[in-house]
Amino acid sequence: MAAKTASSFKKYSTEQVASHNNKDDCWLIINGKVYDVTKFLEEHPGGEEVLIENSGRDATENFEDVGHSTDAREMMKDYLIGEIEDVKPKKAEPKKPLVKPDTKPPAQGNQLYAWLVPAAFALAAALAYRIFVHNAKVATGGAGL
Ligand code: HEM
Repeated sequence: MAAKTASSFKKYSTEQVASHNNKDDCWLIINGKVYDVTKFLEEHPGGEEVLIENSGRDATENFEDVGHSTDAREMMKDYLIGEIEDVKPKKAEPKKPLVKPDTKPPAQGNQLYAWLVPAAFALAAALAYRIFVHNAKVATGGAGL
C-alpha cells in the first residue's frame, strides 16, 4: 500500500465515519485516526464481531483495553485512510470578566464626605479671617489693615 503522506491524508467528520458501520463497509476511529478495516474483518485475531460492534465510531477505548501488541499497531497502518477533522472543541468555559471584580468593601460613603473636612476647615478659616478683619476695622475706626 502506498505510504500515506500528510497531503494524501483525508479528513473525515465523525458523522461521515458513522455511516460505515457494517460488515461490508467497516470503519473505525482510533486515536483520532480513521481506519477502513472491511478487508481485515476475517483476518482479525480478535474476530470480526468486535470490529463490527465498534464500527462507525470511536473505538479507541476498546482497542486500548485489549492491550494490542506492537505488531497489531504496525498492522493498523495498512488500514489507515484518514483522520477526524471535527475534534470537538472544548465546551465553552464560562466567560470570565475582563476586570477583576472589586473585592474591597465599598468605600464610596467615606469618599463622598472626604472633601467635607478640608472644606469645613477652609470655611472656618475664611470666617475667622473675616471676623478678624471686621474686628480690626472696628478697632482702627474703619481705617482697615
Ligand atoms: C485496525 C484496527 C485493529 C487491528 C489492526 C487489530 C489487530 C489485532 C491483532 C494483531 C490482534 C492479535 C493480538 C495482538 O497482536 O495484539 C488483535 C487481537 C484482538 N483485538 Fe484487535 N485489532 C484492531 C482493532 C480492534 C478493535 C477496535 C477491537 C475492539 C475491542 C479489537 C479487539 C481485539 C480483541 C478482543 C483481540 C483478542 C485479544 C486476545 O485474544 O487476547 N481489535 N487485534
